[in-house]
Amino acid sequence: MTERFPLRVVILGATSAIASATARIYAQDAKASILLVARNQQRMDDMAADLLARGASSVDTEVCDLSEPGDVQKLLADFQRRLGGIDHVLIAYGILGEQSEAERDQHAAEAILRINFTSAAIWCLAVANLLEEQASGSLVVFGSVAGDRGRRANFVYGAAKAGLAVVVEGIAHRFANKGPRAVLIKIGPTITPMTDHMNRTGRLWARPEEIARIAYRRAERGGVVAYAPGFWRAIMAIVRNLPSLIFNRMDI
Ligand SMILES: NC(=O)c1ccc[n+]([C@@H]2O[C@H](COP(=O)([O-])OP(=O)(O)OC[C@H]3O[C@@H](n4cnc5c(N)ncnc54)[C@H](OP(=O)(O)O)[C@@H]3O)[C@@H](O)[C@H]2O)c1
Repeated sequence: MTERFPLRVVILGATSAIASATARIYAQDAKASILLVARNQQRMDDMAADLLARGASSVDTEVCDLSEPGDVQKLLADFQRRLGGIDHVLIAYGILGEQSEAERDQHAAEAILRINFTSAAIWCLAVANLLEEQASGSLVVFGSVAGDRGRRANFVYGAAKAGLAVVVEGIAHRFANKGPRAVLIKIGPTITPMTDHMNRTGRLWARPEEIARIAYRRAERGGVVAYAPGFWRAIMAIVRNLPSLIFNRMDI
């Protein structure tokens, strides 16, 4: 259910390709008031012009390194004041990092864990307090199918996303019957700058717009875990249940 019109939306990591596609839907379909939070002011200014042209009621921006945010409660209170209230918060930022580097270099591993898990979890907890206090609203967090089972190719990133999944599930449990929603979008491989270096052929690759549509719908409807695209639910059920004897022979 829509909290109010126009929706007031905060997007943390707004310059991500999937977040940008989601912002475009908020502008077009909901005429939302949007606060973009990211590191690059110029890209946010370009986005703001585009979102206003698409129908957004207002677009504001905030430059922030989201993995070193300082006092998150204070920042959120400021966002709430600037928007006149908050209906949806999207936590979209993240890095894939280099698995091989993370295995050798503790700073590389720490960065993957801090950006994708520690800081995102801290934002989630602060947003949860705000939404619980107002007894409405949605927290939508971008997770990954990589969090469903540790694989040699990316298990540091996967561990961070798995930890984040538990945080979002816990918040959803805390919210039960209280009004607000917490939703984790478990995203499969998607054609964005994060995966530029990969061979992106084959039917399993999604476009940011497909993921954005799911995130937007789930922000409104809820449901604790959404796979995006949906077919990843079945694929990951199989992957999670493969016996080690078979799994260890696979190069996935
Ligand atoms: N693409 C995929 O295949 C895929 C699959 C599963 C899950 N996901 C998840 O989906 C989300 C969006 O990813 P995407 O594919 O849209 O990637 P993307 O286009 O590469 O965007 C990643 C964004 O995260 C931002 N970011 C990274 N560290 C930040 C920090 N410390 N503070 C502020 N912003 C920071 C980047 O900002 P800068 O431009 O300033 O660096 C960038 O805008 C991520 O959480 C990712 O883990 C993606």
